[in-house]
Amino acid sequence: MKVNENFLKIKSSYLFSGIARKVREYKEAHPEKAGEIISLGIGDVTRPLAPAVIDAMHKAVEEMAHAETFHGYPPEYGQDFLLQAILENDYRAHGVELETTEIFVSDGAKSDCGNIGDIFAEDNKVAVCDPVYPVYVDTNVMSGRAGDPTEHGFTNIYYMPCTAENNFLPALPDAHVDIIYLCFPNNPTGMTASRAELQKWVDYANREGAVILFDAAYEAFITEDDVPHTIYEIPGAKTCAIEFKSFSKTAGFTGVRCGYTVVPHALKANGVELNPLWARRQATKFNGVSYITQRAAAACYTEEGKQQIRDTIAYYQKNAKVIYEGLRDCGFTVYGAVNSPYIWLKTPDGMGSWEFFDLLLNELQVVGTPGEGFGPSGEGYFRLTAFGSAENTEKAVARIKAYFKK
Ligand code: MLT
Repeated sequence: MKVNENFLKIKSSYLFSGIARKVREYKEAHPEKAGEIISLGIGDVTRPLAPAVIDAMHKAVEEMAHAETFHGYPPEYGQDFLLQAILENDYRAHGVELETTEIFVSDGAKSDCGNIGDIFAEDNKVAVCDPVYPVYVDTNVMSGRAGDPTEHGFTNIYYMPCTAENNFLPALPDAHVDIIYLCFPNNPTGMTASRAELQKWVDYANREGAVILFDAAYEAFITEDDVPHTIYEIPGAKTCAIEFKSFSKTAGFTGVRCGYTVVPHALKANGVELNPLWARRQATKFNGVSYITQRAAAACYTEEGKQQIRDTIAYYQKNAKVIYEGLRDCGFTVYGAVNSPYIWLKTPDGMGSWEFFDLLLNELQVVGTPGEGFGPSGEGYFRLTAFGSAENTEKAVARIKAYFKK
């Protein structure tokens, strides 16, 4: 028996698992401080599900209680009522026409971003932003596509630095790449790309025969007009882009699990349509999303669901503003927040990002995410999230202000 040796090339723990372990160890060593800890680390939501969603789930549970309305295996790519709601609200409302067969409902964007590599050859060249959501890189390492680890990253990954110097926007690759992961609004920097900027990527991908894997998990946080809500608002995107969307950050589904992936029929690699490949992959390795969850997701698109979700997003947006302005006012250089639940800051006095993590945890009992955990260019930066409660967010900002004003 042999293991997949690619697994030996990645750090033994996933970024957020490693941080959770550090926090657990701190709590064990300092039980008197355990209750004081405020987590603004992993982007996990804290507000309850919208009442419209809860109602829909109760109704769906009741249906499952009777033979006449019971549901067994769900349709593998999603219930029609949910696919239609997605088409209408997430696409037609933004001037984009899709077919239901181009949408694949799943248990979340993380799984899909991780699994999509199954349909691509191992020798494709992968480009990622740096810093980046670690799932894109780690899953390519697991499948053998990333090459070998070096001090500066993996040999077969093309890293695109995103720092203050380029306003956190990657430059087009100066060599051919095949698979490009883009996430806007961006995790972790909280920054966005305008229509004109994304058009450059779509043109590059169409010219080079590359595919853009576009993660739009934070779309609900967009406030500015020039930021597209879907990559398909960009002319030409249907022939070069796959899009991932999630109900996690939009509607608080981190614990419910639901998202979807769009693979347009027009998207081909050397004449081969990718849509049926993903359909085949999902039908074989995934058994669909529970009926109760799909009813919950569909409720997000009802009039009352939409309003309730908007209110929750507004709550987090207020937290984002509190963090952004609070830190800026005490001298930090801060980014993000405007179209995003993430605030990306420069660590003070050139401090290392893990050093800053330790300081916040040990001195202030505030947990964030070190920029270095997202890639080499994240060193010297730090991420805070707006997904905490308003009370905890204010408390955390007050502690940081008090400490750094010293
Ligand atoms: C994050 O904190 O970056 C996200 O919560 C991770 C995720 O969505 O999986």
